[in-house]
Amino acid sequence: MTKTKIILGIETSCDETAAAIMQKNKDGVHILSNVVASSAALQAKYGGIIPEQAAREQLKSIILVIQEALSQAFPLHPKPYTLNPPSIDSIAVTQGPGLIGSLLVGVETAKTLALTWNKPLVPMNHLMGHFYANWIGSTPTFPAIGLLVSGGHTDLILMTGHGKYKYLGGTRDDAAGEAFDKTARLLDLPYPGGPAIAQRANEFKIKNARFKITLPRPLLNEDSLDFSFSGLKTAIFREVEKLKTTKQFNNEAVSQLAFETQEAIVDVLVTKTIKAAQTYKVDQILVAGGVAANQKLSEKLRLAAQKNLSHVRLFIPPPSLCTDNAAFIATAAFYNYHPVDPLLLQANPNLSLTFFSPPS
Ligand code: KG4
Ligand code: ZN
Repeated sequence: MTKTKIILGIETSCDETAAAIMQKNKDGVHILSNVVASSAALQAKYGGIIPEQAAREQLKSIILVIQEALSQAFPLHPKPYTLNPPSIDSIAVTQGPGLIGSLLVGVETAKTLALTWNKPLVPMNHLMGHFYANWIGSTPTFPAIGLLVSGGHTDLILMTGHGKYKYLGGTRDDAAGEAFDKTARLLDLPYPGGPAIAQRANEFKIKNARFKITLPRPLLNEDSLDFSFSGLKTAIFREVEKLKTTKQFNNEAVSQLAFETQEAIVDVLVTKTIKAAQTYKVDQILVAGGVAANQKLSEKLRLAAQKNLSHVRLFIPPPSLCTDNAAFIATAAFYNYHPVDPLLLQANPNLSLTFFSPPS
């Protein structure tokens, strides 16, 4: 662990440009500022992310976002920052995984700032970073089961210490967020699909169900801690086709399909997470990633944990810290403090969770 007290975090792995200033004291890590600019609304027009366009938006926003984070955290600090380095001890930046064009913007900016201001530079794995949203304002302990559910990942890990974990299982095909996004597309709902499906699912009342539908919950009762979500979009596709031929594909049908999709994804995530906690006799669960913002997931996981595990401590970040931000990148850097030579740091779009595994 580091003696560093204030870290500037920079995150640009996908379509969010984010900078945050985080402070660590004896009570844990706290936010001094947390700024996120998103090109999601622009990407929504095209129904998904266009990497080239996401990178261009990153470039346009990065300096403004960092300036805003600094001026919110240090309103009295003299500008320009290039001549008057701000009162930060280190810089942390997402090295990967993500879209290479987007990652390069954050990494090269962080390298430039580290060299100009003469500050240590700490690279961070975006996936590991997500888990550290749970260390903002609270202090989980080990061992813990970690569930990462984002746009590109669905992973279960056993965490035994900072930077020490074992991979337990993950998706064999689509990630949970991807399943939300792809189903939303079939239902003519906007990108990103997760929040859109959740909103339509909330409008659905079971007593108003117009048709019977059973969606697959693959691998639910298998011992393995793997997931598979690709069958869901095929099942939804078939339902939509059926409803379209019988002219029943209307607003109510979309709400019912959104509801059933959310139930199927949440059921599988909850069952596997509880199974992992029971198998490894762990009574702490940390959830992370954009899908952790899903209210149904937190409700069902809380109930299942109370029912099946004694003395469980369940950590789910507030929705604003579940989706991509730089606050969790800086927080992760406090606990995994490994500075590198800025001139040698390279963005790595293929970085995986095993990056931080202890040597076996
Ligand atoms: O972690 P994240 O912000 O970006 C990645 O690193 O992938 O996750 C984005 C994913 C998208 O698939 C989005 O649809 C999903 O998180 N998501 C949600 C919700 N908010 C975002 N899924 C379900 N319910 C939500 N409320
Ligand atoms: Zn993410």
